[in-house]
Amino acid sequence: MENNALIALRAIDFGYPGGPQVLKNLDLDLHAGERLGLLAPNGSGKTTLFHVIMGLLKPIRGRIILFGQPAEKEADFAAARRRIGLLFQDADDQLFSPTVLEDVAFGPLNLGKSRDEAIAVARQTLARLGLTGFENRVTFRLSGGEKRLVSLATVLAMEPEVLLLDEPTTGLDDRTRETLADLISDLDLAYILISHNTRFLEQTVDATYSMEDGHIKTDEALHFHEHVHAHRHGRIPHQHE
Ligand SMILES: Nc1ncnc2c1ncn2[C@@H]1O[C@H](COP(=O)(O)OP(=O)(O)O)[C@@H](O)[C@H]1O
Ligand SMILES: [Mg+2]
Repeated sequence: MENNALIALRAIDFGYPGGPQVLKNLDLDLHAGERLGLLAPNGSGKTTLFHVIMGLLKPIRGRIILFGQPAEKEADFAAARRRIGLLFQDADDQLFSPTVLEDVAFGPLNLGKSRDEAIAVARQTLARLGLTGFENRVTFRLSGGEKRLVSLATVLAMEPEVLLLDEPTTGLDDRTRETLADLISDLDLAYILISHNTRFLEQTVDATYSMEDGHIKTDEALHFHEHVHAHRHGRIPHQHE
C-alpha cells in the first residue's frame, strides 16, 4: 500500500445535499502514535470531517484509506468502525440504552463478547473514568458532563485502535476536565481531538491543526509539547509558548 497511515484522506470534497461545499480538496494523515488537535471556528466542517472518516457521510470526490485499505463500500467502513472510536459531539447521538451499564456494555457485546465479558469490560471502563456507582443510573437523566463521560466510556469499552474525539470537554467542570486530560493523554492510542480549549489541547496533543476553506491547515500548526515529545513535523514552523 502507498500509505502506512491509520487514516489517510486524499482530495476529499463534501457538501450536504442542496448546501455549499463543506470539505474542499481536503488531505489528512493520522499515523500510529500520533495525537492531533483540531481547533477551528464553528461551522468549519470539523464534525463533518469525522463523519466522513467513519463512513456516516459519503464524499462527492476523493479517497479514504483506513488501516492501509481503501474504504469505498459500506462493508469497508463497517469493518473500520470496529477499530475507530468516535465520540460524537452530541452525547444524545451516542447514548440510547435505558441505563449506563447497558449503554457501555452494548459495544463490547456487539463486537462479539459474551454477556459476562461485556459487563466486566463495561464496569472496568466506568471505574477508569471515575464512574463507579453509575451502573444503574438512568442515562437520559444524567447531567451534560456525566453524559459526556459515559459517552467516552461507551467508546473506550470497545477498545478502539484510533479515537476521534469531537469536543470531549463540553459540559465538564474544571476538575473533571483536568482528570479527563490526564486520562486521554495516558491512552496508548492515536487520536484526533476537536476542541476550542487551548489548555486542554496543550495537555493532550502533540500538534494542533486548523481548518479553513474546507481543508486542513498544517502550515501554522501549534506544537505545544515541544520539549516532551519528538517533533513529528519538524519542518513546520511552530510556536514556543
Ligand atoms: N446535517 C446537516 N445538513 C446540512 N448542513 C449541515 C449539516 N450538518 C452541518 N451542516 C453545515 O455544514 C457546515 C459544517 O458543519 P460542522 O461540520 O458541524 O462544523 P464544525 O463541527 O466545525 O462546527 C456548517 O455550515 C453547517 O451548518
Ligand atoms: Mg462540530
